[in-house]
Amino acid sequence: MIETDDITESVVSSIAQMKEISTSFRKQNLTTGFVPTMGCLHEGHLTLVRNSLQTCDRTVVSIFVNPTQFGPNEDLDTYPRELKNDIEKLEALGVDAIFFPDIKEMYPAGHNTTVQVQGITQYLCGKSRPELFKGVTTVVLKLFNIVRPDHAFFGEKDWQQLAVIEAMVQDLNLDVVINRVAIVREPDGLALSSRNKYLSPDERQTALSLSRSLQEAQSEIRRGTTSAEIIIRSMRNLFLDQKGVQVDYIFICDPESFKEKEQIRGRTLIALAVKVGPSRLIDNCIVEEF
Ligand code: PAF
Repeated sequence: MIETDDITESVVSSIAQMKEISTSFRKQNLTTGFVPTMGCLHEGHLTLVRNSLQTCDRTVVSIFVNPTQFGPNEDLDTYPRELKNDIEKLEALGVDAIFFPDIKEMYPAGHNTTVQVQGITQYLCGKSRPELFKGVTTVVLKLFNIVRPDHAFFGEKDWQQLAVIEAMVQDLNLDVVINRVAIVREPDGLALSSRNKYLSPDERQTALSLSRSLQEAQSEIRRGTTSAEIIIRSMRNLFLDQKGVQVDYIFICDPESFKEKEQIRGRTLIALAVKVGPSRLIDNCIVEEF
């Protein structure tokens, strides 16, 4: 529930006003950095924002829980919303505008256009969440058209999302530089995610198996194992007999084409998605084996 008291001066809700602000940055020859988010900001998001503040003259952050990227039985209604906290964090960092659009203005009745990257979206999260990437590319293109950034910043935890956005930018000749920012982890290895909020203390402990399985895979590869099947089996074993855990996928593939690899040679992505209690969590790492 959003209280109007939460809205401060740096928050821009109307698309027209956001466009005016971005036009005025352009007229002053100021570069704009943009960090799109769904709110409930953690250190991972704030790292993206700091990167933007360092790279660009002006920084805009959007907070919009985008309904079109959630499937019918997913967590749209329960997705954590913490607008007041988010605004405080962003104002403390010194962002220039927080774009918090209204759902009815983003998707008015009769909104019938979508953007869809083919090919790489058929793997990993695109396979288990068929609505996801069409929703992401549609909203990100809309946000790019409104904010008109020179640079946009995305985290590598969503490795496939980043690749899909890069493909859209290249295929549609968009004038925006996509900046990749490394995964931010808790000291015990858990990758930061807004969905970690849903975890009970026990589930949080179980969730550590994601990063641990990646670390163990890397050690096994360093010891000479090259078979993807063997690595996946060892990773899966870590989740066996864990209560409330459901492995969605563990996938070893080329980090750009997402084609599955049988042998770990060259630059390789190891990615996994696991449901722990109520949260579907993802993590990944890159290994370089030549
Ligand atoms: O990564 C996210 O939080 C979302 O997918 C994004 C890029 C803000 C689009 O809604």
